[in-house]
Amino acid sequence: MKSMFDWLLRRLSADVGIDLGTANTLVTLRGSGIVVNEPSVVAVKRGTSRVLMNGTAVGASAKQMLGKAPGNIVAVRPLKNGVIADFEVTEEMLRYFIRKAHPGSWIRPRVLISIPSGITAVEKRAVVNCAERAGARRVFLIREALAAGLGVGLPINEPRGYMIVDIGGGTTEVAVLSLASLVAKSSIRVAGDEMDHAIIQYVRKKYDLLIGEQTAERVKIAIGSAHPTDQEYTMEIRGRDLKDHLPRKAEISSEEIREALQEPVRQIVQAIKATLEQTPPEIAADLVDTGITLAGGGVLLRGLDERIAEEIKLPVQVAGDPMTAVARGIGEILEQLDLLHQILETAESE
Ligand SMILES: Nc1ncnc2c1ncn2[C@@H]1O[C@H](COP(=O)(O)OP(=O)(O)OP(=O)(O)O)[C@@H](O)[C@H]1O
Ligand SMILES: [Mg+2]
Repeated sequence: MKSMFDWLLRRLSADVGIDLGTANTLVTLRGSGIVVNEPSVVAVKRGTSRVLMNGTAVGASAKQMLGKAPGNIVAVRPLKNGVIADFEVTEEMLRYFIRKAHPGSWIRPRVLISIPSGITAVEKRAVVNCAERAGARRVFLIREALAAGLGVGLPINEPRGYMIVDIGGGTTEVAVLSLASLVAKSSIRVAGDEMDHAIIQYVRKKYDLLIGEQTAERVKIAIGSAHPTDQEYTMEIRGRDLKDHLPRKAEISSEEIREALQEPVRQIVQAIKATLEQTPPEIAADLVDTGITLAGGGVLLRGLDERIAEEIKLPVQVAGDPMTAVARGIGEILEQLDLLHQILETAESE
């Protein structure tokens, strides 16, 4: 009787996949692909976890309020370094995105969520609880690196080594995959956000100018690089003077931003080297041909691929549409959720 009920539930309800990222959350619906792609930002009443109810509360419109919201409102990024930092706000955000993904359904969906490999048991439990409270009937987990590998089309089921590096907002996940498992891995809490912070520090020191995170991100995207480029650029930035506290502007060059980004870039390269050192020799041998595949928004930094190729001396390719790689991988698994049921992680398997 129970299995009949299960079968019926499965026919009636949707399966939802979530790439719960520090910077962006992507929601996939079985049969429909990616249906939500929004910044992981929520506008709440200051001092509470109460989401504003005026339609500007979650995602892109909330991101515009970061650092700019008026007195009683604050825009929050509830994830830090790939894990939940504010449980209640994450719950509200997930509830909103799940509803947006399949509106009008009264049956709670099964939800597949990607998690970074550096996550602790407690942090993992928080992801599961959060998704359940946000409306999931059952929660399955998948390592981000596996989802990314699948999403970019690597034949991860083969007995052959592939390296995938996913540079997001909060974490850089480095993994060597073979036979659909992680043979070697590193997860460091250095990625896009750290790059933004490095720019803030640099501008503060060199120009006595305080700039916000949003400005730093814009500068990084506009003129940032990890390797000298054919053409160098300059950009005008605005912030607050550290001495007289007045608004002021300064001009900054792409060489300066490259210098500012040196440390986070070095740490990412270092994480790749450390992962290679853990890789068994037969699989390391495969990497000479299969090389390194880069995914995540952080790889859009100009010249990062060249820089990694130069230092690691392996072929490097940037995935097509790198920011949706994990979500596309999740989408593929959703199509086979019934089959994969057993091998996917659930919270109980800890
Ligand atoms: N053109 C660009 N150049 C440099 N960085 C970029 C560019 N476009 C986006 N980014 C950065 O990519 C990051 C977001 O990438 P992504 O959406 O993959 O992260 P995420 O999945 O939310 O984070 P994580 O996986 O770490 O939890 C941000 O830090 C953003 O500034
Ligand atoms: Mg990510």
